[in-house]
Amino acid sequence: MSTTTPISKMTVPEIIAMKKRGEKIAALTAYDCLLASLLDDAGVDVVLVGDSGAMVFAGHETTLPITLDEMIYHTRAVRRGVRRALVVTDMPFLSYQISVEEALRNAGRCLKEGGAEAVKLEGGEVIVETVRRLAATGIPVMGHLGLTPQSVHALGGYGLQAKDNAAATRLVKDAKLLEEAGVFALVLEKIPALLGKRVSDALSIPTIGIGAGPHCDGQVLVTHDMLGLYEKMRLKFVRRYAHLGVDIRAAVEHFSRDVRSGAFPSAEESYE
Ligand code: KIV
Repeated sequence: MSTTTPISKMTVPEIIAMKKRGEKIAALTAYDCLLASLLDDAGVDVVLVGDSGAMVFAGHETTLPITLDEMIYHTRAVRRGVRRALVVTDMPFLSYQISVEEALRNAGRCLKEGGAEAVKLEGGEVIVETVRRLAATGIPVMGHLGLTPQSVHALGGYGLQAKDNAAATRLVKDAKLLEEAGVFALVLEKIPALLGKRVSDALSIPTIGIGAGPHCDGQVLVTHDMLGLYEKMRLKFVRRYAHLGVDIRAAVEHFSRDVRSGAFPSAEESYE
């Protein structure tokens, strides 16, 4: 007899239905099996294999260096840890911008080799044809507007986006174009809260905010930020739910002291 409890798997239609029911979507990032399984056990709706892994996991200064093969490796690890949540993989820089055909081949690899259930692409009007082709091929696409970290050099940093009327109007137009092309959800990063509301009200697909205010249909954070593990950046929009960096350093200092003083291992921790 099986001891596993039945689960109600999160799917793309279910994520869309959550907006219609007025239920908020909780999304977090993961790059490995262990953390992904903890997020999944705790009931998160979406696990995003973010290209933020380039910075958080691999120690790069930006998200640009991570490769498609590396994203697929991380996705396979995450997939093994997730039973319920929807697994979405970020397509890395230059894996979808060169041509629609290349984007299709690379997105297909994320699903076939990584086990992703959807991919996420950054950008507005410029990626509309690609989104249309992926969606028509049965590859669910999540969009990403506002602060798009793959464009960090063009944007001149990681600042607040769409601050003036013209930029806000352009973002709303891009959001509508992406919805019309077939994205099933849209990440909005680091934009004014009122613009987050304007976009969320204008779309029938869910918006998932990160620094985009409380009116989005869901929220996503980088898990290592909200757990206090990635301490390099202090971002206004990140709420720290734990301080694991502090806890880990204290535990390791304690262990090192015990080893040096001979307090570890004790008789109980040794074999006869
Ligand atoms: O790469 C990532 O983790 C992301 C989220 C921050 C939305 O794109």
